[in-house]
Amino acid sequence: MAKYIVLLGPPGVGKGTQAEILSERMGLAHISSGELFRENLKNQTELGKLAQTYMGKGELVPDDVTIAMIRDRLSRPDCVTGAILDGFPRTPAQADALEAMLEEFKGRVDAVPFITAGDSVLVDRLSRRWTCRASGHIYNEISNPPRTAGKCDLDGSDLYQRDDDKAETVKHRIQVYLDQTSPLIDYYRKLGRLIEIDGMQTIELVNQAMMVALNK
Ligand code: AP5
Ligand code: MG
Repeated sequence: MAKYIVLLGPPGVGKGTQAEILSERMGLAHISSGELFRENLKNQTELGKLAQTYMGKGELVPDDVTIAMIRDRLSRPDCVTGAILDGFPRTPAQADALEAMLEEFKGRVDAVPFITAGDSVLVDRLSRRWTCRASGHIYNEISNPPRTAGKCDLDGSDLYQRDDDKAETVKHRIQVYLDQTSPLIDYYRKLGRLIEIDGMQTIELVNQAMMVALNK
């Protein structure tokens, strides 16, 4: 049966960073809803332009649009054995839709690592984040600097700072997370799939904790 892992946690806690490592170590596709919206925006699609009206303000993109985008992505061949989901689901309606979708794709959400860290750490990490323009690889000026400032180690493309990483927008994104996404903690706890991970450790230690928990 296909294996799907959902990464849960507030903005800046390290979902994208961990998803990239897990995807490589577990041989599963990495699906980031935020990256899919940003790619659409880069290509100036109607979906990208619509998503930007929400993302720029730190609001969630409406469920119907987001669910349709993820459904399309999960139906591609690289997801037949499963995927690491980073940033989706983000509302109970999205989680219900995912359960229904995976039944159809003959898979299930196996585990939900829930990564935690304090708000001031989140704001600080995001203010120092640099992202690669070509493929969304993630760096940090302090905790994970690129070998050459401003350039991606993996593909040499330029690094940029996300518009929604301004302190004010980050604070709003954290509030949106608390209001709309945090109910998923109980949602997955009740299903017995939640694994709590301390996100205040180094990137490597967070990953080790996750691998140990996922292999249990
Ligand atoms: P999205 O792109 O998903 O943003 P987010 O959830 O707010 O999360 P981030 O990407 O900001 O943080 P992250 O947890 O991935 O942290 P990262 O690994 O980069 O969504 C953006 C927007 O798109 C949303 O606001 C919404 O508008 C829309 N959207 C997306 N999905 C949606 C959905 N399902 N429904 C509706 N709308 C949706 O790490 C952060 C920094 O910290 C990096 O610099 C990294 O190097 C560093 N770092 C990571 N781990 C550590 C560590 N352990 N120690 C020290 N530094 C670390
Ligand atoms: Mg991310």
